Amino acid sequence: MTDIVVLGSTNMDLVAYVEKAPRRGETVTGREFRTVPGGKGANQAVAAAHAGGTVSLIGAVGDDAFGGRLRSTLEHSGVSTDHLRTVEGPSGTAHIVVDDEGGNAIVVVPGANGTVDRLAPGDEGLIASADALLLQLEIPLAAVVAGARTARAHGVRTILTPAPAQPLPPDLFDATDLLVPNEHEATTLTGRTDPLQAAVALLEVVPEVVVTLGESGVLYAARGQEPVSVPAPRVTAVDSTGAGDTFAGALAVALGEERPVREALAWAAAAASLSVQRPGASASMPHRTEIDAWYAS
Ligand code: RIB
Ligand code: NA
Repeated sequence: MTDIVVLGSTNMDLVAYVEKAPRRGETVTGREFRTVPGGKGANQAVAAAHAGGTVSLIGAVGDDAFGGRLRSTLEHSGVSTDHLRTVEGPSGTAHIVVDDEGGNAIVVVPGANGTVDRLAPGDEGLIASADALLLQLEIPLAAVVAGARTARAHGVRTILTPAPAQPLPPDLFDATDLLVPNEHEATTLTGRTDPLQAAVALLEVVPEVVVTLGESGVLYAARGQEPVSVPAPRVTAVDSTGAGDTFAGALAVALGEERPVREALAWAAAAASLSVQRPGASASMPHRTEIDAWYAS
């Protein structure tokens, strides 16, 4: 089994489902409201656990009611929370509007995630024993860099989702093996709008890149190799929140099992396409048997 450690955020997603998102100054009436566990770190952890990995999450929740629910949801999904700290104050929250096309707009308030600014005692040993470390950018950058460097020092594969989009320091690129931006993040990092050009530009700073393109699938590029384009299965999206996280979590598991890259990409894309057909981030992440069946169909 692939041993995966995720260093990152845990949020309660407060989701309003509405026909069309409001513009500034406008008020619209929504159809439905849900509170669903999310956060890019927790989402990737749940996705990887459902996909068949052995997973631990390093991060923090608050001492509010959301914190308890976030922790227990992770545990129910089979994610170890031994390195998930409970700190004073509110948990992270994400305020999400999902429209009738399944697209979203999100405001994240970090709360407890903002306290994760370094590794705690014991985190290094956990990272050192993993096959892969998954990282995103919803905790302070100093901790992301520390985690990536620690993994690198122990020969552990580092997979970074550079979201939310922001410029990154060179020492983070230096410690990244596989970068998984979406189109928008790839543009933020390179100034290029064409995904292939962006991927090629990113190969100057990391050895492997996967640009996720939503319903157009994914584009993989590695130094010294022809880029590989993998289509996504055609589906009707109801909520794409966490689709990128589902992809990253499933991909980490497949790569850890040493499946060929093209197969790993297609399998992870199948997982993501299942998740967009259901509401909620972590609530929509498919289990391994389901991914296998959909992948084979
Ligand atoms: O990537 C999706 C996640 O981003 C959501 O679950 C939400 O918490 C935001 O952080
Ligand atoms: Na979903």
